[in-house]
Amino acid sequence: MTDHIICKAEEIAEGAARRVRIGGRDIAIFNLGNRFAAITNRCPHEGAELCHGKVAAFISAEGPGEYRTEDEKVMVRCPWHGWEFDLANGRSYCDPNRMRVKTFDVKVSPGETLAEGPYQAEIFEVRTEDDYVVLTL
Ligand code: FES
Repeated sequence: MTDHIICKAEEIAEGAARRVRIGGRDIAIFNLGNRFAAITNRCPHEGAELCHGKVAAFISAEGPGEYRTEDEKVMVRCPWHGWEFDLANGRSYCDPNRMRVKTFDVKVSPGETLAEGPYQAEIFEVRTEDDYVVLTL
């Protein structure tokens, strides 16, 4: 597993998405306010880009006139025909066992931890003696 730095967290507005292509995969990353979610950007119905879908909390009802939103269960609605997918597990609302999109792990990391990075340049000792610069290999 390799981490890919996408952008600053603030560059994706709350409720919006960013489309990224990594390793041949088309992925939509959503800012849900208190967390981020990432899914395949292609709707399994007819291929619409889910990054253009509307994000909304799941609404359930106990009876007529009574409803509540479940803020932890957030869906994205496909922009073409309205199929909805749970951003936590990729399952569709209408057929959760057959229709789903792949989900990906996404997190917010402090910049200072990323600055350390896995990469390190080769370092050589350098010192000055009188007016000469000396590089030690
Ligand atoms: S293409 Fe997504 S619901 Fe049809």
